[in-house]
Amino acid sequence: MISRHFLGVTLGAVGVTLLSATVVGSPLSARQDTPPVLDWASLEILTAAADAQVQSVIDGKENIFAGEPRGVAHAVRQVIAPFVWPNSTYYHDASVLPLVDEMLAALVRLQHDDGTYTVGNRHSPPDTGFLIDDYSMLVRLLENDDFPSSQARADKIRGMLEKAGPASLGGAHTPNHRWKLCGALAHISAITGNETLVRRVDQWLAEGIDIDADGIYSERSPIYYSAVTNPSLISVARELNRPELYDYVRRNLELIIEHTEPISGEIETVQSRRQDQRQSPGSNLADSYPLFRELALRDNSGRFAAMVRLTEKLIPAKLGDYLGTLVERPELAALLPEPENPFGNRFSKHYATANLVRARKGNLTTTVFGGTDWYTAQHQQSPFFNRFGSGLSTNPTFFRAWNGDAVLEAVRMLPNFFTMGHFRSNGLNYSSTDGVTTLGNVYEVPYFLPMEPEHINANATYALSRSTPDGRFYAMLDFENRPKTLRRLQTEVKVVPTDAGYDLEFEVSGEQDVEVMFELTFRPNGTFSSSAEGGLKKLEDTTEADGAETYHLIEGTGRYTSASGQNTISFGPGLGDGRLLSGAGEQYSWMNGKLELVGHQVYITGITPLKYTLQLGFE
Ligand SMILES: *[C@@H]1O[C@H](CO)[C@@H](O)[C@H](O)[C@H]1NC(C)=O
Ligand SMILES: *[C@@H]1O[C@H](CO)[C@@H](O)[C@H](O)[C@H]1NC(C)=O
Ligand SMILES: *[C@@H]1O[C@H](CO)[C@@H](O)[C@H](O)[C@H]1NC(C)=O
Ligand SMILES: *[C@@H]1O[C@H](CO)[C@@H](O)[C@H](O)[C@H]1NC(C)=O
Ligand SMILES: *[C@@H]1O[C@H](CO)[C@@H](O)[C@H](O)[C@H]1NC(C)=O
Ligand SMILES: *[C@@H]1O[C@H](CO)[C@@H](O)[C@H](O)[C@H]1NC(C)=O
Repeated sequence: MISRHFLGVTLGAVGVTLLSATVVGSPLSARQDTPPVLDWASLEILTAAADAQVQSVIDGKENIFAGEPRGVAHAVRQVIAPFVWPNSTYYHDASVLPLVDEMLAALVRLQHDDGTYTVGNRHSPPDTGFLIDDYSMLVRLLENDDFPSSQARADKIRGMLEKAGPASLGGAHTPNHRWKLCGALAHISAITGNETLVRRVDQWLAEGIDIDADGIYSERSPIYYSAVTNPSLISVARELNRPELYDYVRRNLELIIEHTEPISGEIETVQSRRQDQRQSPGSNLADSYPLFRELALRDNSGRFAAMVRLTEKLIPAKLGDYLGTLVERPELAALLPEPENPFGNRFSKHYATANLVRARKGNLTTTVFGGTDWYTAQHQQSPFFNRFGSGLSTNPTFFRAWNGDAVLEAVRMLPNFFTMGHFRSNGLNYSSTDGVTTLGNVYEVPYFLPMEPEHINANATYALSRSTPDGRFYAMLDFENRPKTLRRLQTEVKVVPTDAGYDLEFEVSGEQDVEVMFELTFRPNGTFSSSAEGGLKKLEDTTEADGAETYHLIEGTGRYTSASGQNTISFGPGLGDGRLLSGAGEQYSWMNGKLELVGHQVYITGITPLKYTLQLGFE
């Protein structure tokens, strides 16, 4: 990386030099729409990251060929973007071309006669859409490039892109696939001039964009907002002149700001219906980078510009893919507006459809979540009660807190109540006057009694059915036609802001003598201490390979200090030496499944009837 001095003093001039006719061979200089002054601070970062990716492609060649065609197409893009960019060390470096040609030959071979590719999903139109994104960029980069053989490569890719036209008229599996297909059709139509493809785009768009009033798309997934839906809508907006689609993207980017923790750059995923609900630590802002950039320029937004700068600061090495974006679309390489604090100083908001509350105060950011798909908007059990699956929101984490680099990854609660697994709230109520959030649910688990004579079967064979209302298991017991008795466990939680942080007030009632375990997960690294001698007991055989430790808070207050030593989270009091529980519920345990987070675990154990206030302090 070059020095600030170089950036500040020299780069404007360099940008101008690059634009002058003396620099032949620059795709940027050839374009009419190239901005007069380029954002070299960004281009430096993207160039360094993109150059590093070329080496990864070369080193990872075997794996790329062993993988899916999507990875091969992406690798071609990762090599070609630096190849056509005069400021890359790989600029017109012919030594990379045999590898590119080998990859292109594989892609030609792997494309089915119907124009699709197979990516696990056989003959998949939406997965083919991902290759189309790369192909459309590659065609434009190579057609603008004056290296002798670039036009021939552009023609080869254009051929694959054209062949994928009819393929992109095929069907989808998920909400975001629809927009992926629209984006692909828009690219193909714009590049090949085939306007009949636009009819299918209009059919999909006529279904309406699946975004709520808060800017949350229906899959509630930061991965899919940023990597698929927003870029696809922008492709349609741009290629087919539908500027109104930018508005959905803008709303979702505002949401991403609200859902981003400013120091780590982590976008909240606990509410996701997709795989990112697993809560992987680390910044997931990379995919939003070109989106914030584009809207910062379009809207002259200093807040969006600040998100670009934050991403460049936090994860510069992950931005290599966007060099190609800026070279293809030089208008995106323009200087950004002056950054403005996007986060504000104080923030709290209730997201009604997701049953999520986010709050920020100084360096403390919190999430309260009560919106899994186990329940309907009316707090009733849904058809997905006690179910897990792709497309369902099921994460039992109901509280999270970031205090600088001290992160309480999750608070969860596990009652020893049959095998229902963790508590999941049936929704969430939020009071904007005092900032108090309430959560709650009732578990009802039946014992089944003998059937009435009219349901008796002479051969003793009964319908294979699902146990109701608990939904824990299936058996040939014709559950629906049986009388039953119920055992009940009721949980109420109030999340109350305090001077020190938050109080989580629990009341667990109904069934008596039920062991309850609170699970607090803290980020790896950091250290623990305790206000009482022996109050925080380390469980000896539980230090994991990654150094994560497990503790039982017996009495007093525990304290977690982050790896930097700068930030702490205190928690407690302990509730005695109760029974430690495990098991994520029948739906996981019958197949040995686990529902665990990465990090240190602290357990607090109690027994019903239970009134307990977990006091959390942040310093
Ligand atoms: C970018 O490339 C041009 C043309 O090769 C060169 O004049 C300029 O110094 C380079 N700029 C940077 C910042 O590397
Ligand atoms: C346009 O696309 C449609 C659908 O794939 C195809 O049937 C038609 O032949 C294409 N037209 C041209 C001129 O390529
Ligand atoms: C917030 O965190 C930053 C470091 O990321 C630190 O410089 C600042 O002092 C913190 N502010 C407060 C109020 O602790
Ligand atoms: C939220 O309020 C509604 C209406 O008062 C009530 O029915 C529901 O039980 C409450 N839910 C929670 C989780 O507090
Ligand atoms: C019981 O089994 C016999 C022999 O398979 C079959 O014919 C009969 O329909 C069955 N009766 C009932 C009530 O399912
Ligand atoms: C924890 O520390 C290890 C070793 O110092 C480091 O490799 C790892 O990245 C750290 N993890 C986190 C989440 O900071």
